[in-house]
Amino acid sequence: VLVVARPALAQIYPSHPITIIVPFAAGGPSDAVARILGERMKRSLGEVLLVENVTGAAGSIGVGRAVRAKPDGYTVSFGHLGTHVANGAIYKLGYDLVADLEPVVLLPSNPMIIVSKKDVPAKSLKELLAWLKSRPQPPTAGTAGAGSGSHIAGLYFEKVSGIKLQYVPYRGTGPALNDLVAGQIDIIVDQTSNSINQVRAGTIRAYAVTDTKRVESAPDIPTVDEAGLAGLHMTLWSGLWVPKGTPEEIVARLNAAAVEAMSDPAVKKQLEDLGLQIPPKDQLTPEALGAWQKAEIAKWWPIIKAANVKVD
Ligand code: MLT
Repeated sequence: VLVVARPALAQIYPSHPITIIVPFAAGGPSDAVARILGERMKRSLGEVLLVENVTGAAGSIGVGRAVRAKPDGYTVSFGHLGTHVANGAIYKLGYDLVADLEPVVLLPSNPMIIVSKKDVPAKSLKELLAWLKSRPQPPTAGTAGAGSGSHIAGLYFEKVSGIKLQYVPYRGTGPALNDLVAGQIDIIVDQTSNSINQVRAGTIRAYAVTDTKRVESAPDIPTVDEAGLAGLHMTLWSGLWVPKGTPEEIVARLNAAAVEAMSDPAVKKQLEDLGLQIPPKDQLTPEALGAWQKAEIAKWWPIIKAANVKVD
C-alpha cells in the first residue's frame, strides 16, 4: 500500500486566501492599516488577505470570531489596545485575550488627535476647552464603542481636562468621522491616522496630538503639552494574532510577511504620512507582542476598572 505522507499543514501554507478579521467598520483606522499591510503581505505569502469587518461591542465580537476560528493560519485577528487589552476589563468576553490567542506581530502605532467639527469657534486647544465648558449639555464625542481606543482616549481627555463628555458610539471611527465632518457631533479624540486627511482637507479642526513630539507628517499640529493639556499622552498600538494552537511555522510565515510589508519603503511612506510609526525591529517578534500585550493589560486594567466604564 502506497502511503502518501500528508505534507505538514505548514509546508503547503498558504494554499488559499487568508481572512483578516478587522473588528471595526470599513473606512476607519483599523481597516486602513489592515488593508495597506494585507495588500503588501499578499506578495510574500502568495495568497490574498481578505479583510472581513466584523463589528460590535468595541471590537470584542470580531475578536471572538477569530478566537473560535480553526488554528490553521487562515483566520487572523487584527486588534489594538482597545480590543486586545481594554475590552478584557470591560466585557464578559467568553474568551481569554492571552490564553486563547497566539501573538503574531506588533503593527504601527499612532498618537491620538483632538479634532472638532468645523464650525466650532476655537482657534486653539485652550479656546476649544472653553467652548466645550460653555456648552449647556455635555458636548458629544464620537467613539467606536465602550472600550475602544477612541473611548479610552475620551476618558483620558475627561480626566485631564475636567470636561464631561457625552459619548456617541459607532461601529468604528470611520463612521464617527463622517458625522464629525457633517457637524453631527462635537469632537473625537481619534487616531491621527484616521482624521489627518480630513484635517488637511479643512473639513474638521485639529487642536493637538497626544504625544510628546509633533507628528512628522503634520508638523503644524501642536502637542498636548504645547497646547495646554499637559500629560494627555497616549499612543494607540495595533497588532495581529491568530487562534491558540496555530502551528508556529505558520505564525512565523505571517510574522515575516508583515515585517517585510512594514519595511517596504512605499508602505512605510504611506503609513508615516498618516502619522503611523512602525515599531523598531526588536519589537517585531511574536514574543515581543506577547510581552507587550501582557504589560499593557497589567497597566490598563486597574485604570479601566477604576473608571468603572459603563457598557452601552
Ligand atoms: C477605535 O478603537 O477607536 C478604533 O480603532 C476605531 C476604528 O478602528 O474604527
